This record gives sequence, structure tokens and C-alpha cells, in this order.
Amino acid sequence: MNRRQFLQTSAQCAASAMFLGLGGAPSFAAPNAGARKNVVPLVTLNNGLQMPLLGLGTMTLTGDLGTRCVAEAIAQGYRLIDTATIYNSETAVGAGIKQSGVKREEIFITSKLWKTDMGYEQAKKGFQTSLDKLGTDYLDLYLIHRPAGDVKGSWKAMEELFHQGKIKAIGVSNFEPARLADLIASSDVKPAINQIETHAFFQEGKAYDYLKQHGIQHEAWAPFAEGRHGLFTNATLAAIGKKYNKTVAQVCLRWHFQRGIIAIPRSSQKAHIAENVNIFDFNLEDSDMASISTLDLNTTQFPEWS
Ligand SMILES: NC(=O)c1ccc[n+]([C@@H]2O[C@H](COP(=O)([O-])OP(=O)(O)OC[C@H]3O[C@@H](n4cnc5c(N)ncnc54)[C@H](OP(=O)(O)O)[C@@H]3O)[C@@H](O)[C@H]2O)c1
Repeated sequence: MNRRQFLQTSAQCAASAMFLGLGGAPSFAAPNAGARKNVVPLVTLNNGLQMPLLGLGTMTLTGDLGTRCVAEAIAQGYRLIDTATIYNSETAVGAGIKQSGVKREEIFITSKLWKTDMGYEQAKKGFQTSLDKLGTDYLDLYLIHRPAGDVKGSWKAMEELFHQGKIKAIGVSNFEPARLADLIASSDVKPAINQIETHAFFQEGKAYDYLKQHGIQHEAWAPFAEGRHGLFTNATLAAIGKKYNKTVAQVCLRWHFQRGIIAIPRSSQKAHIAENVNIFDFNLEDSDMASISTLDLNTTQFPEWS
């Protein structure tokens, strides 16, 4: 069993256990119950499309668990859901959106082209497979997951799908500035997004400046570094949280938000899903932002994916 399979199995077992209340009944709220809470602010991308600055990540959230998490997130006010072919969560995401009762047009769905589907023809097929699994006829955002294989052929296919209105915005993930510059130089459509590992221990200052300068929206994956390097018990983050009566997770997400970065925290727990979207009622002071900037180790916490 590889790392991904292990993570998937263990997360599902643990989370399924937590989702079930006494007597085995699902403990999640009825979808679409009550008035909408937690309205997430939007950012305008370089093609005019508006995108929520916070969403739910769905890596490992497959099957019934994924469906429940997505429906719960939508009930809690999330409108951005991040999935990918490689996560095997697209079917669950589609089902969760349906279960939520919220209209498809009100949800912003991101999916990603995996490296085995790179190239002009394959990218179109990969995209269609994602649509079929999600049960939708368009994507809000489609990203090249990794800069591997035939990037330019894939991008050409994505540009066509974008011009046909089947994708509202196209972008990339895990692209270094030099790789991005190369793509921009040879493309008609500029990427709207670069989704990269970004968290308190890897703040990606250079990429952040490059993306700002080129009008490409920075999106953070692993906004909590998956809890690595003791993130959830970090003394600096905890002390800042205490000041505002907020958790470490909320401080991290607020820090991303105040940098203007889209964050897509993943959680399989109802309480965490609610906590993570409850960050729009406080403001980190400049001194807090400065303290967090001192935590930067300027290195990936996921060397196994480099
Ligand atoms: N483009 C790429 O290459 C790429 C790579 C990795 C990830 N991503 C995307 O980014 C998303 C987020 O990254 P990630 O899933 O790697 O990690 P993450 O969001 O940094 O961390 C997820 C972990 O944090 C825990 N957590 C969530 N909320 C919490 C809270 N309030 N308090 C304490 N613990 C909390 C979760 O546990 P519980 O389930 O127990 O809450 C889970 O173990 C992914 O799901 C995926 O959509 C993209």
C-alpha cells in the first residue's frame, strides 16, 4: 500500500467513525437547513471570474464520507470545492453538491488534469471524464495538476474548452515562476491561478511576488501543512489565536486570507469544517502578520512529492 492509499484508508476509517453519532446515525446537519451562514468573500480573477477565497479540499475524501463532507461544507457556507482526478473524489463531490440542494451555478468547482492525461487529445478526454464523474457539464476552474509531460498540448486543449465556455477559468498547479513564464510566453490565455503548497512554514514569498506582479491568483494547497512540523501546536500561532479567541487553524486561514491567497483546507470532521470557515469576524494585526512571517522555513514540508 503506498502513502496515498494508506492516507485514504486511514482517513476514511477515522473520519467515518467520527461522522457517526451514537446508534450509527450520521451526525451531520440536514443539508440546506436554515439561512446561509458564513458568506465567504470573493476575489476577481484575471479574466473577470469571481472565486471564493476559501473552499474545501477533498484529497482523501472519497465515497460516502466525501459526499457528507461536501454537503456539510456547503451547508456551512462554503461555495468552493477543490477536487482532482487523482483524488478519486470527483464522484463524491458531485453527489455532495446534489445532496446539498444548492444550485450547481452557485458552487465553484475546481478539478485538475492528472499527469497521465497530459497532451492535447488526452486532456480533452480527461476533462470529459471529470465532468462525467462530477455530474456537471462545465467546470469553474480546471488546472494542470503538475508541470509534467506535454504541458503546451494540454494547455491548448484547455484554451479551446475555455473558449467554448466549458471551463470558466484555466490555470496551473505546482508551477515554479520560470515554468509559468514559459507557458505564458507561448499561450493565448494567461493562467488565472497557480495552486501551490503554501503555509506558515513554506510561505512561498518569491512565487507570491511573481504571481502578484503577473496578475495570477495565488491559491494555497495544504494551508495547514497537513499539521506537519507541529503546526497545530505551534506556540506562536497558539498565542496569536488566544488574543482573538480563535484556534491555530483559524489563525492560519485568516493569515492566508489577509495575504489575498485562496485557501482550501481539507477536513473530514463537522466541527473542523465549521471552524475553518469561521474566520471572517476578526483581523490579524500587522504585528501578528509579522510574527507569522518569522515561522517561514522556506522549504517544502512534502519532500516526497517534489
Ligand atoms: N495541487 C496539488 O498538488 C495539491 C496537493 C495537496 C493538496 N491539494 C489540495 O489542497 C487541499 C488541502 O491540503 P491537504 O488536504 O493536503 O492538507 P491541509 O488542508 O493542510 O490539512 C488537512 C489536515 O488538517 C486537519 N484539520 C483540518 N481542519 C482542522 C482544524 N480546524 N483543526 C485541526 N485539524 C484540522 C485535517 O484533519 P480532520 O479531517 O480530522 O479535520 C487533515 O488531517 C487538499 O485536500 C487538496 O484539495 C492540492
